[in-house]
Amino acid sequence: TAGGDAAAKRRAGERAAEEVEDGTVVGLGTGSTAAYAIEAIGDAVADGLEIRAIPTSFQSRQLALEVGIPLTTLDAVDRVDLAIDGADQVVDDPDATAHGTLIKGGGAAHSREKLVDAAADRFVVVADPSKLTARLDRSVPLEVLPDARTVAADRARVLGGEPTLRAAERKDGPVVTDNGNLVLDCDFGAIESPADLARDLSAIPGVLEHGLFVGLADATYVGTDDGVEIRAY
Ligand code: A5P
Repeated sequence: TAGGDAAAKRRAGERAAEEVEDGTVVGLGTGSTAAYAIEAIGDAVADGLEIRAIPTSFQSRQLALEVGIPLTTLDAVDRVDLAIDGADQVVDDPDATAHGTLIKGGGAAHSREKLVDAAADRFVVVADPSKLTARLDRSVPLEVLPDARTVAADRARVLGGEPTLRAAERKDGPVVTDNGNLVLDCDFGAIESPADLARDLSAIPGVLEHGLFVGLADATYVGTDDGVEIRAY
Protein backbone atom coordinates (compact mmCIF):
# COMPACT_ATOMS: atom_id res chain seq x y z
CA THR A 1 0.00 0.00 0.00
CA ALA A 2 1.78 3.09 -1.22
CA GLY A 3 0.72 6.57 -0.16
CA GLY A 4 1.32 8.26 3.16
CA ASP A 5 4.48 10.23 3.73
CA ALA A 6 7.19 8.61 1.60
CA ALA A 7 10.06 10.61 3.13
CA ALA A 8 8.94 9.70 6.66
CA LYS A 9 8.57 6.05 5.65
CA ARG A 10 12.07 6.06 4.22
CA ARG A 11 13.56 7.55 7.42
CA ALA A 12 11.81 4.97 9.57
CA GLY A 13 12.85 2.06 7.36
CA GLU A 14 16.46 3.15 7.06
CA ARG A 15 16.77 3.78 10.80
CA ALA A 16 15.40 0.32 11.60
CA ALA A 17 17.83 -1.24 9.13
CA GLU A 18 20.68 0.17 11.22
CA GLU A 19 19.60 -2.20 14.01
CA VAL A 20 20.53 -5.26 11.95
CA GLU A 21 23.66 -6.89 13.37
CA ASP A 22 26.23 -9.16 11.79
CA GLY A 23 25.50 -12.87 12.00
CA THR A 24 21.78 -12.50 12.68
CA VAL A 25 18.56 -13.78 11.14
CA VAL A 26 16.18 -10.99 10.10
CA GLY A 27 12.49 -11.05 9.21
CA LEU A 28 11.66 -8.83 6.25
CA GLY A 29 8.22 -7.23 6.35
CA THR A 30 5.92 -6.25 3.52
CA GLY A 31 4.75 -2.87 2.21
CA SER A 32 6.31 0.39 1.14
CA THR A 33 7.88 1.25 4.52
CA ALA A 34 9.44 -2.17 5.06
CA ALA A 35 10.74 -1.93 1.48
CA TYR A 36 12.92 1.03 2.48
CA ALA A 37 14.39 -1.11 5.26
CA ILE A 38 15.02 -4.00 2.86
CA GLU A 39 16.81 -1.70 0.41
CA ALA A 40 18.99 -0.30 3.21
CA ILE A 41 19.78 -3.81 4.46
CA GLY A 42 20.74 -4.71 0.89
CA ASP A 43 23.19 -1.79 0.85
CA ALA A 44 24.69 -3.01 4.14
CA VAL A 45 25.03 -6.55 2.77
CA ALA A 46 26.86 -5.15 -0.26
CA ASP A 47 29.19 -3.46 2.24
CA GLY A 48 29.93 -6.75 3.99
CA LEU A 49 27.12 -7.31 6.52
CA GLU A 50 26.52 -11.06 6.89
CA ILE A 51 22.93 -12.00 7.63
CA ARG A 52 20.23 -14.38 6.52
CA ALA A 53 16.72 -13.09 6.01
CA ILE A 54 13.21 -14.52 6.00
CA PRO A 55 10.77 -12.66 3.75
CA THR A 56 7.10 -12.36 4.69
CA SER A 57 5.65 -12.24 1.16
CA PHE A 58 6.32 -12.73 -2.52
CA GLN A 59 6.94 -8.99 -2.71
CA SER A 60 9.54 -8.81 0.05
CA ARG A 61 11.23 -11.98 -1.23
CA GLN A 62 11.47 -10.47 -4.70
CA LEU A 63 12.94 -7.21 -3.39
CA ALA A 64 15.41 -9.05 -1.14
CA LEU A 65 16.61 -11.09 -4.13
CA GLU A 66 17.00 -7.91 -6.19
CA VAL A 67 19.16 -6.22 -3.56
CA GLY A 68 21.23 -9.33 -2.83
CA ILE A 69 20.12 -10.35 0.66
CA PRO A 70 20.77 -14.07 1.39
CA LEU A 71 17.49 -15.79 2.22
CA THR A 72 16.46 -18.65 4.46
CA THR A 73 13.24 -20.09 5.86
CA LEU A 74 11.69 -20.32 9.31
CA ASP A 75 12.22 -24.07 9.53
CA ALA A 76 15.94 -23.77 8.70
CA VAL A 77 16.92 -21.45 11.56
CA ASP A 78 17.20 -21.76 15.33
CA ARG A 79 15.93 -18.28 15.96
CA VAL A 80 14.86 -15.02 14.34
CA ASP A 81 16.72 -12.15 15.97
CA LEU A 82 14.85 -9.18 14.57
CA ALA A 83 11.82 -8.57 12.37
CA ILE A 84 11.17 -5.22 10.69
CA ASP A 85 7.68 -4.70 9.32
CA GLY A 86 5.17 -1.98 8.49
CA ALA A 87 1.63 -1.59 9.77
CA ASP A 88 -1.67 -0.08 8.71
CA GLN A 89 -2.46 1.23 12.19
CA VAL A 90 -0.54 1.28 15.48
CA VAL A 91 -2.04 2.02 18.89
CA ASP A 92 0.32 4.66 20.21
CA ASP A 93 -1.15 5.89 23.47
CA PRO A 94 0.54 5.09 26.79
CA ASP A 95 -2.88 5.19 28.48
CA ALA A 96 -4.37 2.59 26.14
CA THR A 97 -4.24 -1.03 27.21
CA ALA A 98 -3.59 -1.93 23.56
CA HIS A 99 -0.44 0.24 23.36
CA GLY A 100 1.75 -1.29 20.62
CA THR A 101 -1.06 -3.31 19.08
CA LEU A 102 -1.41 -3.21 15.28
CA ILE A 103 -3.68 -3.72 12.33
CA LYS A 104 -1.84 -5.25 9.39
CA GLY A 105 -2.76 -6.91 6.11
CA GLY A 106 -3.31 -3.92 3.82
CA GLY A 107 -1.10 -5.83 1.40
CA ALA A 108 -2.79 -9.17 2.19
CA ALA A 109 0.46 -10.50 3.66
CA HIS A 110 -0.51 -10.52 7.34
CA SER A 111 -0.51 -14.31 7.88
CA ARG A 112 3.13 -14.80 6.98
CA GLU A 113 3.97 -11.45 8.56
CA LYS A 114 2.47 -12.59 11.87
CA LEU A 115 4.27 -15.91 11.64
CA VAL A 116 7.66 -14.26 11.18
CA ASP A 117 7.09 -11.18 13.38
CA ALA A 118 5.87 -13.33 16.27
CA ALA A 119 8.85 -15.66 15.93
CA ALA A 120 11.33 -12.80 16.23
CA ASP A 121 13.08 -12.00 19.50
CA ARG A 122 12.53 -8.35 18.67
CA PHE A 123 9.83 -6.94 16.38
CA VAL A 124 10.25 -3.37 15.21
CA VAL A 125 7.40 -1.63 13.40
CA VAL A 126 8.29 1.04 10.87
CA ALA A 127 5.69 3.71 10.14
CA ASP A 128 4.94 7.27 9.19
CA PRO A 129 2.92 9.37 11.65
CA SER A 130 -0.38 8.78 9.80
CA LYS A 131 -0.39 5.20 11.15
CA LEU A 132 -0.50 6.19 14.82
CA THR A 133 -3.83 6.20 16.61
CA ALA A 134 -5.28 6.12 20.11
CA ARG A 135 -7.81 3.47 19.07
CA LEU A 136 -7.85 1.04 16.15
CA ASP A 137 -10.65 1.75 13.69
CA ARG A 138 -9.48 0.46 10.32
CA SER A 139 -10.98 -2.65 8.76
CA VAL A 140 -9.43 -5.88 10.00
CA PRO A 141 -8.34 -8.18 7.14
CA LEU A 142 -9.11 -11.88 7.50
CA GLU A 143 -7.27 -14.34 5.26
CA VAL A 144 -9.83 -17.08 4.65
CA LEU A 145 -9.81 -20.39 2.83
CA PRO A 146 -11.77 -19.91 -0.42
CA ASP A 147 -14.42 -22.40 0.76
CA ALA A 148 -14.88 -20.42 3.98
CA ARG A 149 -15.65 -17.01 2.58
CA THR A 150 -19.41 -17.09 3.06
CA VAL A 151 -19.55 -18.77 6.46
CA ALA A 152 -16.60 -16.74 7.76
CA ALA A 153 -18.30 -13.53 6.58
CA ASP A 154 -21.47 -14.57 8.43
CA ARG A 155 -19.46 -15.19 11.61
CA ALA A 156 -17.73 -11.82 11.27
CA ARG A 157 -21.16 -10.14 11.03
CA VAL A 158 -22.27 -11.88 14.23
CA LEU A 159 -19.19 -10.35 15.90
CA GLY A 160 -20.33 -6.88 14.76
CA GLY A 161 -18.24 -6.58 11.61
CA GLU A 162 -19.17 -5.59 8.09
CA PRO A 163 -17.13 -7.85 5.80
CA THR A 164 -16.15 -7.03 2.21
CA LEU A 165 -14.39 -9.51 -0.08
CA ARG A 166 -11.23 -7.71 -1.21
CA ALA A 167 -11.33 -7.17 -4.97
CA ALA A 168 -8.26 -7.23 -7.17
CA GLU A 169 -7.41 -3.92 -8.79
CA ARG A 170 -6.14 -5.10 -12.14
CA LYS A 171 -8.03 -8.35 -12.51
CA ASP A 172 -11.71 -9.20 -12.52
CA GLY A 173 -12.36 -11.02 -9.27
CA PRO A 174 -10.89 -11.20 -5.80
CA VAL A 175 -7.43 -10.70 -4.38
CA VAL A 176 -5.78 -14.10 -3.99
CA THR A 177 -3.10 -14.18 -1.28
CA ASP A 178 0.41 -15.62 -1.60
CA ASN A 179 -1.08 -18.69 0.09
CA GLY A 180 -3.94 -19.07 -2.41
CA ASN A 181 -6.63 -17.74 -0.11
CA LEU A 182 -9.11 -14.81 -0.11
CA VAL A 183 -9.30 -11.69 2.06
CA LEU A 184 -12.34 -10.38 3.91
CA ASP A 185 -11.88 -6.79 5.09
CA CYS A 186 -14.06 -6.49 8.17
CA ASP A 187 -15.14 -3.07 9.40
CA PHE A 188 -15.80 -3.20 13.16
CA GLY A 189 -15.78 0.59 13.61
CA ALA A 190 -13.70 1.61 16.62
CA ILE A 191 -12.32 -1.53 18.27
CA GLU A 192 -12.84 -1.36 22.04
CA SER A 193 -10.92 -4.49 22.92
CA PRO A 194 -8.47 -5.74 20.27
CA ALA A 195 -7.50 -8.73 22.42
CA ASP A 196 -11.10 -9.94 22.69
CA LEU A 197 -11.76 -9.40 18.99
CA ALA A 198 -8.51 -11.16 18.08
CA ARG A 199 -9.54 -14.20 20.11
CA ASP A 200 -13.02 -14.28 18.56
CA LEU A 201 -11.69 -13.94 15.01
CA SER A 202 -9.12 -16.68 15.56
CA ALA A 203 -11.93 -19.01 16.60
CA ILE A 204 -13.74 -18.77 13.23
CA PRO A 205 -13.26 -21.98 11.21
CA GLY A 206 -11.62 -21.29 7.87
CA VAL A 207 -9.89 -18.09 9.01
CA LEU A 208 -6.21 -18.70 8.47
CA GLU A 209 -5.16 -15.49 10.19
CA HIS A 210 -6.52 -12.04 11.00
CA GLY A 211 -4.70 -8.73 10.86
CA LEU A 212 -4.81 -7.83 14.56
CA PHE A 213 -1.31 -8.08 16.07
CA VAL A 214 -2.00 -7.84 19.79
CA GLY A 215 0.98 -6.88 21.90
CA LEU A 216 3.49 -8.24 19.38
CA ALA A 217 5.44 -5.06 18.66
CA ASP A 218 8.45 -4.22 20.81
CA ALA A 219 8.88 -0.75 19.33
CA THR A 220 7.64 1.52 16.57
CA TYR A 221 10.10 3.66 14.62
CA VAL A 222 8.12 6.65 13.44
CA GLY A 223 9.57 8.73 10.65
CA THR A 224 8.97 12.44 11.17
CA ASP A 225 9.75 15.60 9.18
CA ASP A 226 13.34 15.65 10.33
CA GLY A 227 14.15 12.39 12.07
CA VAL A 228 12.85 9.22 13.66
CA GLU A 229 11.02 8.88 16.97
CA ILE A 230 11.34 5.54 18.71
CA ARG A 231 8.37 4.38 20.77
CA ALA A 232 9.14 1.36 22.93
CA TYR A 233 6.41 -0.85 24.40
C1 A5P B 1 1.02 -5.97 4.36
O1 A5P B 1 0.02 -6.92 4.37
C2 A5P B 1 0.75 -4.96 5.42
O2 A5P B 1 0.64 -5.52 6.68
C3 A5P B 1 1.80 -3.88 5.37
O3 A5P B 1 2.86 -4.17 6.24
C4 A5P B 1 1.14 -2.60 5.71
O4 A5P B 1 0.06 -2.45 4.80
C5 A5P B 1 2.07 -1.39 5.64
O5 A5P B 1 2.26 -0.94 4.33
P1 A5P B 1 2.94 0.46 4.03
O6 A5P B 1 4.24 0.49 4.72
O7 A5P B 1 3.08 0.47 2.53
O8 A5P B 1 2.01 1.53 4.51
